[in-house]
Amino acid sequence: MKKGIFQEFEGYSKIVEEIEASRRYGIDYSVDKDSPEQYINLLHPPRLELRVSDIIQETPSAKTLRLVSTNQYLPPFQAGQYIGLFLEIGKIRTTRPYSISSAPNQTGYYDITVRRVEGGLVSNYLLDDVESGHILQSSGPAGNFYFNPLFHKKTMVCLAGGSGITPFMSMIREVVECGLDRNIYLFYGNKDLDDIIFHETLKAISERSENIHYLPVIENPAEGYQGHSGLITGSLIRETLDHLEDKTFYLCGPQEMYEFCIPELEKLGIPKRKIRKEAYGPPARISDYPGWPQEIKAEDLFTIKVDGHKTLKGSAGEPLMVTLEQAGIVVPSLCRSGECSICRVKILSGKVFQPPGTLVRKSDNQFGYVHSCVSYPLEDLEVLI
Ligand SMILES: Cc1cc2nc3c(=O)[nH]c(=O)nc-3n(C[C@H](O)[C@H](O)[C@H](O)COP(=O)(O)OP(=O)(O)OC[C@H]3O[C@@H](n4cnc5c(N)ncnc54)[C@H](O)[C@@H]3O)c2cc1C
Ligand code: FES
Repeated sequence: MKKGIFQEFEGYSKIVEEIEASRRYGIDYSVDKDSPEQYINLLHPPRLELRVSDIIQETPSAKTLRLVSTNQYLPPFQAGQYIGLFLEIGKIRTTRPYSISSAPNQTGYYDITVRRVEGGLVSNYLLDDVESGHILQSSGPAGNFYFNPLFHKKTMVCLAGGSGITPFMSMIREVVECGLDRNIYLFYGNKDLDDIIFHETLKAISERSENIHYLPVIENPAEGYQGHSGLITGSLIRETLDHLEDKTFYLCGPQEMYEFCIPELEKLGIPKRKIRKEAYGPPARISDYPGWPQEIKAEDLFTIKVDGHKTLKGSAGEPLMVTLEQAGIVVPSLCRSGECSICRVKILSGKVFQPPGTLVRKSDNQFGYVHSCVSYPLEDLEVLI
């Protein structure tokens, strides 16, 4: 073996002896140069090329896109994780995260289930312009919204709103298809019955599996509706479940659902550490967010100087990243919710609003870095990308 820095490590000569002894018995632990990198790239590829193999209309406003790999290999994922799609729509290059709704034991494809957002750039593109055979680029699976047997109770209480059902669908499918020893209570809120994604599938699963309990909650039901109506309240949870202390709570849905449901859970005495919440994009109306300076209107325009030369206008109510993308400037991004840190940019001058609770590292704060996906200009800015 070549002489070098390794010889400085404690135990080096012992390891060399063991490798040589193994070789004498025909066992060779050495690996080809670069082969670990190949395995790492297979498991954590920087980019995947995916072909849309099928499109399933789930509700009038939601479709499932079934995605297969163009090179035969899809990295494994944990039920609850998402992929980030990289897209070019018109002149805009952007990304959006979508949770995988198929089960992780199904290794041939990823399903993503997309619901239309009124006026939304990507959801409308995926629902109206993408057809079978279309090629999409994505990140590998990411995110940490999944069951961890070391820390989480085996009874999961899942609170979903609208398209927030998708990570739970993956978890439920895995529990049923793999016969896992886990119980899931799913409270699923929607505005009306037609909005419920996977309603028939969930009903059928809960009828034949004693571990899965499905409780749809309809905000504005038609007259005569027999099921639960209104919002997912603490009292509904309390009526349905005994022994709240031996359960972990998972939430996925729009910001308004978190604002309502988390205090409801806290009133039931559920400690914060037992409440897990998936990131679900930037707040819909940042100027209504607690802490927003009242003197600034969402439509106020500011000048943003980028990398010392390009100057553009951005409104206070739009995340900095969106303003940059609209001007053709790409900032790497994945979660678009202030969690993954990939989109950090440095603010050289000027002030931005970041929603309270945004996870910014201490050193980033110290050196002026912000998450551009959840930073909103409050003054003229100078930015370094
Ligand atoms: C981890 C993660 C997983 C996600 N998984 C899914 C999924 O499985 N299925 C799915 O349909 N979406 C999912 N989303 C949301 C998705 O990434 C997009 O935000 C959504 O499709 C809207 O994008 P858009 O380009 O159409 O709207 P944009 O053009 O980005 O937004 C238009 C306007 O709508 C608001 N808005 C954005 N998203 C929403 C929303 N979800 N509800 C209401 N208003 C919104 C924006 O604040 C903006 O004002 C997920 C988000 C995250 C962070
Ligand atoms: S894209 Fe993840 S923090 Fe901004």
